[in-house]
Amino acid sequence: MNHLAKIKQSGGRIAALTAYDFLTAQLLDRAGIDMILVGDSLANVVLGYPTTLPVTMDEMLHHAKAVARGVTRALTVADMPFLSYQTGVDDAVRNAGRLLKEGGVEAVKVEGAGSALAVVERLVEVGIPVLGHLGYTPQSVHRFGSNVVQGKTAAQAGELLNDAIALEGAGAFAVVLECVPAEVARLITERLTVPTIGIGAGPFCDGQILVLHDALGLTAWSPRFAKRYLEMGGMISEAAASYIREVREGAFPAAEHCYEMPEDELRALGVDDESGDRKMR
Ligand code: KIV
Repeated sequence: MNHLAKIKQSGGRIAALTAYDFLTAQLLDRAGIDMILVGDSLANVVLGYPTTLPVTMDEMLHHAKAVARGVTRALTVADMPFLSYQTGVDDAVRNAGRLLKEGGVEAVKVEGAGSALAVVERLVEVGIPVLGHLGYTPQSVHRFGSNVVQGKTAAQAGELLNDAIALEGAGAFAVVLECVPAEVARLITERLTVPTIGIGAGPFCDGQILVLHDALGLTAWSPRFAKRYLEMGGMISEAAASYIREVREGAFPAAEHCYEMPEDELRALGVDDESGDRKMR
């Protein structure tokens, strides 16, 4: 958390990505990422749900543990899944506590302001660092409908600013701004002491976060704001097609992929070396 604050104070930019498994988290950590979020986007990009609503505490914990095992340096944050904190402050403390105690992450993220402010305050009070999340908050998908970009009117932008100030006041160590106009994100970023981390919120935030599967081009479709740094979906399909072809043609496995018996053991087994059984050599 302090690291992120220092980046803002020094005028630097925070680079964050989501991760959901050990190996990917380790790769991102070694690449120098500042923050890894075990997002509840787990629901969409790993578990195949259409929204983030179905993902459970147990599923979040399972993936948080894997990510935490892969990270030695970056800040690790896990999303509080839908209904793990909206049902009351005590539930929130119990569930956030599990993400830290069992999941091994260092902080949690909650969506929205309003009734979430009391949750943020209490979590911070008991020593659980909280990342806020404003703008388009996917757990409210049914409230937003197709209105993805938030804060497009002056009144809505003012509300977002007030919510961000309230989240900072409640003790959030940073605020994610999702799908808001760049000018609104700039206004909020300038007014807050804590860093803002944008996703679809333009270039003026203190940092950026992307869903890893979008950044790697694993998903068939990604939102306009998500730059695809690779087209890994296509690469995986091509690799799988090559494998299937080689298996069917008998080109895989080749000699270098096979184990051998010593010649004398082969003879003892009664296998005729000339019979073609050792052709692979
Ligand atoms: O769940 C998630 O991946 C997120 C990011 C989009 C910020 O909340």
